[in-house]
Amino acid sequence: MQPLSARRLTRLRVDADAPDPRAVARAAAVLRRGGLVALPTETVYGLGANAEDADAVRRIFAAKGRPADNPLIVHLAAAEQLPRVCPMITSLARSLAERFWPGPLTIVLDAAPDLPAVTTGGLTTVAVRVPDHPVARAVIEAAGVPVAAPSANRSGRPSPTTADHVAADLSEHLDVLLDAGPTGLGLESTVVDARGTEPRIYREGAVTREDLGVSAVLVTPDAPSPGTRYRHYAPACPIEIVAPAELEERARVLAGQGMRAGAVAPARTPIDGALSIISFADVDELARGLYGAFRDAEDAHVDVLLCSAVPETGVGRAIMDRLRRAAAVQAME
Ligand code: TXA
Ligand code: MG
Repeated sequence: MQPLSARRLTRLRVDADAPDPRAVARAAAVLRRGGLVALPTETVYGLGANAEDADAVRRIFAAKGRPADNPLIVHLAAAEQLPRVCPMITSLARSLAERFWPGPLTIVLDAAPDLPAVTTGGLTTVAVRVPDHPVARAVIEAAGVPVAAPSANRSGRPSPTTADHVAADLSEHLDVLLDAGPTGLGLESTVVDARGTEPRIYREGAVTREDLGVSAVLVTPDAPSPGTRYRHYAPACPIEIVAPAELEERARVLAGQGMRAGAVAPARTPIDGALSIISFADVDELARGLYGAFRDAEDAHVDVLLCSAVPETGVGRAIMDRLRRAAAVQAME
């Protein structure tokens, strides 16, 4: 490893579907040496390090400013590697992996005892997934090690859905940034505990409750899933969740008070008096654009960001969860 002071970020543009093998090999070599690689997944960009190298994983926590007891997701190239990090694979885990991997489902199981405690946040369990992105899988496969990767944002910032978002937050900490363009889903994976016989959802995400089946039990995630305890995105501008039919009126009231409002609103709903940050045709488009909208609203220096509420079904649940967290942070301050 080079000393930190000698580090310079190498940013490589790669084809999302057919990444250049030289770029993949370079990123994999950096991972094997204990360096940090930001890489695209189908959900958001991840900040990757060798999950079995405690020093490398410590660099992730330092780069993000992340509390040490908030564990990381370990990414594998294929489900066959699961025994390397989880000694006991339940039949529930096996069937979830068969149905949803590669894909945006993170499965919590008992952790192999030799996984560094820094990776698991000191828990006896570990969260694992096989991402559905050719770049992520190629890099993990070439590295030949499980890759710990939280979202590649500074703690308290929105998850990054473009390489520019990653660079804005972390450029001085990275060895390699693989830029494969915007991520496809835009919201993080769903985290489920699969140690029992029914999946328990710790974090709503891109795999919906409907996908998992009605039996999926939602737990109050605080105790078992440390990440949900921490401050989430703390926006520079207040966020208000507004029913779509009331957006127009709310924007008018704010304008009357001399406030500049931004709007995240359904398409074909022009809102007089608010700056359109994004307009979305459906919830999938909103999921893809939401985190970028948070960053754009800050850059545009709006006083308030009005966000249209969406029905709480399918991916709408994860969207409303993230909106509430973003809105609640300032309500507490
Ligand atoms: O889509 C994603 O999941 C992205 C991409 C990069 O894969 N990753 C991601 O990682 O969102 P991160 O670190 O930002 O969120 C991981 C979440 C946190 O809420 C963490 O507390 C939870 O997963 N988690 C990790 N290990 C856990 C465990 N053993 N038990 C319960 N929750 C766990
Ligand atoms: Mg995160």
